[in-house]
Amino acid sequence: METIRLPRIMQETVMRERRSGKAVGFVPTMGALHEGHLSLVRAARAENDLVAVSLFVNPAQFAPGEDFDRYPGNAGDDLEKLSSSGLADIVFLPGKEAVYPPGFSTRVEVVGLSDRMCGRFRPGHFQAVAAIVLKLFNIVQPARAYFGQKDYQQAVVVKRMVRDLNLPVEISVCPTVRDPDGLAMSSRNVYLSPEERQAAPALYRALRAAADALEGGRRDAGGLGSLMRTVLGREPLFHGVDYISVFDPETLDELENIDRDDVLIAGAARIGGARLIDNLLVNNLK
Ligand code: PAF
Repeated sequence: METIRLPRIMQETVMRERRSGKAVGFVPTMGALHEGHLSLVRAARAENDLVAVSLFVNPAQFAPGEDFDRYPGNAGDDLEKLSSSGLADIVFLPGKEAVYPPGFSTRVEVVGLSDRMCGRFRPGHFQAVAAIVLKLFNIVQPARAYFGQKDYQQAVVVKRMVRDLNLPVEISVCPTVRDPDGLAMSSRNVYLSPEERQAAPALYRALRAAADALEGGRRDAGGLGSLMRTVLGREPLFHGVDYISVFDPETLDELENIDRDDVLIAGAARIGGARLIDNLLVNNLK
């Protein structure tokens, strides 16, 4: 496994591989790797000749007061995990200056999709995600890139950017990986105290309750929202719900009436010093 730090070297390396006919599978990450990330790397390994993983905590996608300064992660541990897994060929590990040279002033906005759901509470976040993902795609030049469903809105934003800009990359969205009690794996779960960790699966249980009700024939979005808030409210350690509701899975519009086959149930809530997000897609409702 090769570690590359400079964008130019990364570009030259993948261009050489592409010229010899190899398809690159790419997993962009902010490090602090867990089983969820490794499932993406496994998917990339299964479908491509060469697998590249990036490790870069993108400062631009954190608002002032968010957790950039304490974002978990240790490049040494991540490199060890990737190398011992035997799944990755190249790790792109750029420094901040290499990604954001002085004078960097480009913005990328997927209008509409970026200011819904989490975007309402994290202004500028998805613009910064779109910009870094576009930049990483230009550096790594993947045939396929892999994102987790846990960050559903991010995947929708990236897919729309790829479609709108005709980027020659196929986006694959892989299932959320959960702990046995249902908690979606996230690098931010390390912020949870033992008590908070025990309470945290209530977010998944709330989404599950709404999914079960939908599958049982219930169609009132408002009622489903109340049901989810009630389930989550049973865990007093959750001290703030940014949103928990039913959405159109393509436009990310919040639904009032559920008159379609597929819906997204998603929530973001705060527990201790962590903001957790999770979602479920419910298909074939009619
Ligand atoms: O999902 C993430 O880890 C990040 O948002 C990404 C896609 C690596 C961009 O910084």
